[in-house]
Amino acid sequence: MKQLKRHLFFCGSEHCNGQQVEEVMDAFKEQFVEHGLYKHIKLNKTSCLGLCGNGPFALVYPEGIWYYNLTAKDVPRIVEEHFIDGEPVEEFVMLKLENK
Ligand code: FES
Repeated sequence: MKQLKRHLFFCGSEHCNGQQVEEVMDAFKEQFVEHGLYKHIKLNKTSCLGLCGNGPFALVYPEGIWYYNLTAKDVPRIVEEHFIDGEPVEEFVMLKLENK
């Protein structure tokens, strides 16, 4: 059975700069392949996530962290610091779900 460690959601609606979402998703995919993480992480583009206009977003589960206003050049840092070292990149975090 495939073991997923994380699931990322990207708003693909037009208020979140829909075209840039593809670039950001592609940058994540490239980084996951480069670091050997791809088979453990799923990525999906969604419709509106309810925080319109601050995209591109990457909503990361299981942490429940919303990265916002992303560009493709932000992605390597997020992958290295968050996905490899375990420390979310606070300057790109818009909100976090409470996990109690
Ligand atoms: S259009 Fe992206 S969160 Fe609503």
